[in-house]
Amino acid sequence: MVQASAPGKCILFGEHAVVYGQPAVAVAIDQRMTVSLEISDVWRIDGMRFSPERHPHVESLKQRLWANGPSLSIKVNGDIPPASGLGSSAALSVAASAALRCARGRQIKDDDWGEGWTAARPNAVYTGPWDVEQGDSVQTGKDSVDVDECAILSHAVEASAQGGRASPLDSSTCSHGGCIVLSDKVESDLNWIYSRTLNDVSWEVHAVDLPKEIEDVWLVIGNTGIHAPTSEQVAKVARLLENEPGRMREIETIGIIARRGIAALKEGNMEGVGRAMRENHLLLRSIGVSCSELESLISAAAPSSLGVKLTGAGGGGCMIALTRNPKETSEAIELAGGRTLISKIAAHGLIVESDDNSPLWNPFE
Ligand code: PMV
Repeated sequence: MVQASAPGKCILFGEHAVVYGQPAVAVAIDQRMTVSLEISDVWRIDGMRFSPERHPHVESLKQRLWANGPSLSIKVNGDIPPASGLGSSAALSVAASAALRCARGRQIKDDDWGEGWTAARPNAVYTGPWDVEQGDSVQTGKDSVDVDECAILSHAVEASAQGGRASPLDSSTCSHGGCIVLSDKVESDLNWIYSRTLNDVSWEVHAVDLPKEIEDVWLVIGNTGIHAPTSEQVAKVARLLENEPGRMREIETIGIIARRGIAALKEGNMEGVGRAMRENHLLLRSIGVSCSELESLISAAAPSSLGVKLTGAGGGGCMIALTRNPKETSEAIELAGGRTLISKIAAHGLIVESDDNSPLWNPFE
């Protein structure tokens, strides 16, 4: 059996403002999605007949990595609630990309990739495979998996499942883990890792090295259970800015706060991170993306936390609290009617957990 897992994510700073070019900061969380694969007589997912309509991300990956391959039984497990802004579909896509790649191996030519997905502008492209020649080999199992390739594929399938629009924030954070910053320019004080372009929009993706002080704090995620589609919240902010162009000042202020939050994170100044979260939330509320349910979870968590804010698109979905007392904060949120998850900051990215009996299929014969 081949098995891989990837973490979910939450946004610490910069949601909505990132749509207008400001930096956004996301961290990987302890909650993960795990995908395992075995050869099967017919295509199955979690024991049921596989339906492409119900699993568009897996279907897209199957076309890209498993075209003409034998039937598989796919098992998906995880503790990331779906459709709540915590990156469940990106984590699933990253884990599934890794599992499929591991299960088929990779053609190697002249000590380099003979085939694979790369981020060419304006989209992900596939090169290879080449005609098999003497001296070629097939890399198998864990060694064939590449984190960047999984991030590229996850971004591509997220975009195709969402009508062509998706930033690489989820796919990069769920692949690489840790802390990822997206911006419309290279941020000189961060570790730039790559640029991504999709449908004429470009992003610069950076990783942030975090100090040991993050070990002393937790994130408590409070879920309102209200589903508010991201596209509607983004459209709401767009209407506000169209009607009142002066409100762009608030978007720019979110960018300033996000940069201050990143600086505090890097210094290990957790009080500073919490302060920036609170300020970021006030601006999100002022541009109209909070709601009474989020506000009551936030008020309940505030007394025991360093900082509290909504996370993701808002209008429902989740809030996060940065705290030194996760149990107390979590109980307060639950008393106010939220469901909670507790996570450390910046979990591990993609992990290939088992490559037993791989490759399951050799497409290069
Ligand atoms: O709720 P999520 O994780 O999909 O985050 C949305 C973040 C926004 O900035 C509101 C939208 C976007 O595309 O960046």
